Amino acid sequence: MKHIAIFASGTGSNARKIIEHFKGHSSIKIHLVVSNKPKAPVLEMAASHGISTLVIERTTFYKTKNILHELSLFQIDFIVLAGFLWLVPTYLVAAFPKKIVNIHPALLPKYGGKGMYGMHVHRAVWAAKEPTSGITIHYVNEQYDEGDVIYQAECPLSGAECPESIAQRVLKLEHEHFSRTIEEILSKKE
Ligand code: GRF
Repeated sequence: MKHIAIFASGTGSNARKIIEHFKGHSSIKIHLVVSNKPKAPVLEMAASHGISTLVIERTTFYKTKNILHELSLFQIDFIVLAGFLWLVPTYLVAAFPKKIVNIHPALLPKYGGKGMYGMHVHRAVWAAKEPTSGITIHYVNEQYDEGDVIYQAECPLSGAECPESIAQRVLKLEHEHFSRTIEEILSKKE
């Protein structure tokens, strides 16, 4: 059985899709949802699915390795970042080599890096009059959005887009592809 921890900071629509996708799965279990926001809706959503939750605090997360103990208590093998806005500390990347994935709402390497999240991304894509946008699912390393790319999906943008319509198209791609891609990665691992 593979145990996944989802890290999320906000709404958690991706987290919800992932939880629903793996409900009753024979070999993959969502065992924990971690957030840096005590009031993040994702925590309530996880609890409503009977999934344990954990709120992390910045100093502890960056100055100690307590999170490694918490993750081992839940036998976590794999970490999924689904709208987690903090940089993953080096010790955590090192403890989970090629076992942390992130989804970014653009076609990396463009429109990535510090500060490029949520509507900031879609506004930049819109301002650049890009003909397409999309998603990138990638392994996480010590830099924002720079790990090896695992999967990308693209959507065409019409001339009449606005940042909000781009966000909608991209979120739809996230919901369509993230869970399946996680399942494919884990079914390839031992
Ligand atoms: C998504 O746009 C994702 O690409 C980014 O954060 C957002 C999460 O949205 N990493 P939600 O909280 O899953 O609805």
